[in-house]
Amino acid sequence: MKTILVTGGAGYIGSHTLRVLESEGYLPICFDNLSTGFREFAGSFPFIEGDLGNPDDIERAFSSRRIDAVVHFASHALVEESCRNPFKYYHDNILSCLNLLQAMIRQQTKFIVFSSSCAVYGTPLRVPISEENPLQPINPYGATKMIIERILADFEKAHGIHYVSLRYFNAAGAHPDGAVGEWHNPETHLIPRLFEAALGCKGQAEIYGKDYPTPDGTCIRDYIHVMDLAHAHLCALQHLSIHGSSDVYNLGTGQGRSVLEVVHEVMRASGKEFAVDFKPRRQGDPPALVADPGKAKAGMGWSARHSSLSEIVDTAWNWHKKRHGKNP
Ligand code: UFG
Repeated sequence: MKTILVTGGAGYIGSHTLRVLESEGYLPICFDNLSTGFREFAGSFPFIEGDLGNPDDIERAFSSRRIDAVVHFASHALVEESCRNPFKYYHDNILSCLNLLQAMIRQQTKFIVFSSSCAVYGTPLRVPISEENPLQPINPYGATKMIIERILADFEKAHGIHYVSLRYFNAAGAHPDGAVGEWHNPETHLIPRLFEAALGCKGQAEIYGKDYPTPDGTCIRDYIHVMDLAHAHLCALQHLSIHGSSDVYNLGTGQGRSVLEVVHEVMRASGKEFAVDFKPRRQGDPPALVADPGKAKAGMGWSARHSSLSEIVDTAWNWHKKRHGKNP
């Protein structure tokens, strides 16, 4: 297995995965419509600008080279936006995946690694969350991921396409050399927004909700370094090429951090004390999401190695300083 089509490769997790795949001897081809990704994130990797909503664009990608496997990141991925505009999420995320799978059937590409999310669990019955928790998403974004996992299972039965679905917890941090990092427009994610406040690009940091049933009242998330996530895609491809069997894995650390803990860590890394404003809860946010990552270790030999909160925040700070072109 050598040539890998990486949809959404110019996005945050995709761009880190391009680099990890290349370092392990794969040839990643980046496919992206640049709606949220950045051309520069694809660097000098082979790049196809195209939209998964357009089957002709996908055919163009598959006709450029024999594709051995697909890593499918391309997706709308904002919880709050999905609550406001469910049509966009159900339509685009699902149709994109169906078009991709149809092309894979035509081209006899048998393996896909899918970017799923812990949002499939909704407000979980048990924390830490194992893969056995029921899938009860509480926002349209999570619902699209759950539906696509079901589609993948059905396509496996009907067409023999094998998949690994990776349920990410909260991706964070940046490439250690600062080449790529987290960057969205508009930015809604916690750590980049805190650094915007630290760098003085935004008035003050906002915390959504202080009355959650958690020790300090703010939401708890399991932050996982983007390089660990990228590495998990390599493990998933190896798993598929060796075993050929489909599976679903949580990707997290098993340790939860509150929003306030992250705020303090960002202040430590940046050396800046910025003002914090408490706002009402954000729609679609469950109180606590923490992974049980045991199955990924047992099944793929994967575990987080760079996901201490300090390593996450230090690499993110390095990236944001560079990106903003401002020194503290
Ligand atoms: N938060 C704030 N202030 C901000 C931004 C976020 O308090 O300015 C809070 C949120 O309410 C949440 C936590 O910080 O409690 C993390 O929020 P993010 O927006 O950084 O991340 P989400 O948990 O909403 O979502 C991310 C991805 C999803 C994925 C999810 C899994 O965007 O794709 O993690 O938990 F499904």
